[in-house]
Amino acid sequence: MDIVQQLLAALGPDCVRTAEQASQRMASNWVNAQNLQCRALLLPQTTQEVSTALQICHAAKQAIVPHGGLTNVVGGVQTQPHEIALSLERMNTIEAIDVDNQTATVQAGVGLQQLQIQLNAAGLFFPLDLGAKGSCMIGGNISTNAGGLQALRFGVTRNLVLGLEVVLADGTIISSMNHLLKNNAGYDLKHLFIGSEGTLGIVTRAVLKLEALPLSRNTAYLALNSFAQACDFLNFAKKTLGHTLTTYELLWQDYYRLMTSPPARHAPPLPQDHAYYVLLETAGYHPENDQRLFQETLEKAFEIGLIADACLAQSQQELDWFWGIREQVDFIFSVHQPVFLFDVSLPISTMETYTEEIRQGLRAVWPEVFLYVFGHMGDGNLHLFVSCGQNDRATRHQVEEIVFGPLTAIGGSITAEHGVGLEKKEWLHLSRNPAEIALMRQLKSTLDPHGILNPGKIF
Ligand code: LAC
Ligand code: ZN
Repeated sequence: MDIVQQLLAALGPDCVRTAEQASQRMASNWVNAQNLQCRALLLPQTTQEVSTALQICHAAKQAIVPHGGLTNVVGGVQTQPHEIALSLERMNTIEAIDVDNQTATVQAGVGLQQLQIQLNAAGLFFPLDLGAKGSCMIGGNISTNAGGLQALRFGVTRNLVLGLEVVLADGTIISSMNHLLKNNAGYDLKHLFIGSEGTLGIVTRAVLKLEALPLSRNTAYLALNSFAQACDFLNFAKKTLGHTLTTYELLWQDYYRLMTSPPARHAPPLPQDHAYYVLLETAGYHPENDQRLFQETLEKAFEIGLIADACLAQSQQELDWFWGIREQVDFIFSVHQPVFLFDVSLPISTMETYTEEIRQGLRAVWPEVFLYVFGHMGDGNLHLFVSCGQNDRATRHQVEEIVFGPLTAIGGSITAEHGVGLEKKEWLHLSRNPAEIALMRQLKSTLDPHGILNPGKIF
């Protein structure tokens, strides 16, 4: 029997959608998305259904591509016509919110923003935040170990997951739904699957670590005249603001100008002629103190010459405005096409020289190139958006060579948060040594001997 017939017989037409039905949907949430081309689309509602589907696919050596919110930017959900897409979107139940122990038990298809809203109503807070929050799902956040906008304080997704349930390639359900902060009973298996980009197992449920909902939020744009100021002010802010510091996003002048000039719909909160801008945010539990500390920190920084100007958000509307300038990165695609997007990791002290080297390298080949740099400076993670007018394979390769080339010498990584997917696999050797890659491959073949889970991704 054909694999789709087998799946239909086992799971029924509500769970198994034909290629024709699937082709009505988008293949990705990102720019220029095509319609989904796949052999079938599975929409399981239970872990058991995921397990049954994988048992059948494992026996038939049928490739499966896990789908969540489809916001992946490195081709991690790219699906071939002969592959079966498996979307966890109908497993979207928040199963439990434990107020006393500050945990949430969720299914993989729960939307990040949906979860944030539900938790906030209960006085709790899941401190993962990223631009894609309206579309992305927890399962995707976990399988890609998402970073985002508050990692400086709360860490990346890996630091926020206590327990995990995954289904292995052969259908085995590994229920590791730990609720404890400390549990050293043998290997902590969840970490094998977090960040494995759907290549080792399908994440179906998770136990998440929560925080109390902050009662204060202070946000400002700062203008700086040099990168040295951005570094000095970061260290100053870490000391003066202590654990309230949640976000330190750096914007190079080009990016700030782009996002605050027509046709962008945002006005500039500060004049556009400074070299750098920082979006700074704190969150805390003592509103009056937190606000005073925030203001005093900025006043002191101004006094001792660490910052050139500052503008504080005074309302929700201003918060949305400030964050829009930083978060609405897809605006770039309405101005430039094509754009290559990077998420390099590197020591903070090397960011300025690295960026200049890249700028020179790109200009030497494409004098008219656009390079926008911004990102999570506090986490040592920059985003580079490069547009040089061409989109062919050779051009992409040449751009990547320029961007990735210098990273090895400075101890950087080709990806801080977006992962490898399809787009960066040819460069994996720059960030992982042969023994590491060999062990990764060994784990892959142990857990997925037929290579059916998200084939071709990572390596
Ligand atoms: C961001 C995405 C590009 O930080 O990672 O906006
Ligand atoms: Zn980012």
